[in-house]
Amino acid sequence: MPPVISPATPSDLPAIFDLLDQSKLPRAGLDQHLGTTLVAKESKRVVGSAALELYGSAALLRSVAVAAERRGQGLGQTLTAAALDLAHRRGVRTVYLLTETAGDFFPRFGFRPIPRSDVDQAVLDSPEFTTACPVSALVMARSLE
Ligand SMILES: CC(C)(COP(=O)(O)OP(=O)(O)OC[C@H]1O[C@@H](n2cnc3c(N)ncnc32)[C@H](O)[C@@H]1OP(=O)(O)O)[C@@H](O)C(=O)NCCC(=O)NCCS
Repeated sequence: MPPVISPATPSDLPAIFDLLDQSKLPRAGLDQHLGTTLVAKESKRVVGSAALELYGSAALLRSVAVAAERRGQGLGQTLTAAALDLAHRRGVRTVYLLTETAGDFFPRFGFRPIPRSDVDQAVLDSPEFTTACPVSALVMARSLE
């Protein structure tokens, strides 16, 4: 059976943090956005995640991660599409992301590299931008309009 995508619950947080650690992605601030975090579960085990930080009409897509042994089977794309669908339903107009390792993964969803100076101020002020991700990380954006 394919993994089931569902909203994360507080009890999922330790497993999501483990997955982020294994994927070398930052944990910082994710607990503040659990209500807009999705998990992929296989027999109750968390094997994937994707989260949105909502800032009005802007959102930051973060924590897109798939367990090493489940990669290459479409789960990362399913999680990304589900997070974009959630953003659309929440009225988000622009989705941003930061990545050091997956700049070639996100263009298939319409994300394009942009300069930091073009990022919505509320997203620029988020912990992911200000502390968690190095300034060398690639910034990408996608319009949902
Ligand atoms: C990026 C990631 C989520 C992809 O998940 P996945 O389940 O392996 O991806 P899928 O199976 O849905 O998609 C596979 C496709 O994506 C491509 N792909 C996977 N990881 C990639 C990466 N890091 N960079 C570029 N392309 C990537 C594969 O080459 C494959 O391409 P194809 O369809 O042309 O054959 C996963 O590799 C991961 O958890 N990486 C570590 C964390 C990370 O870097 N997250 C992104 C930053 S938030």
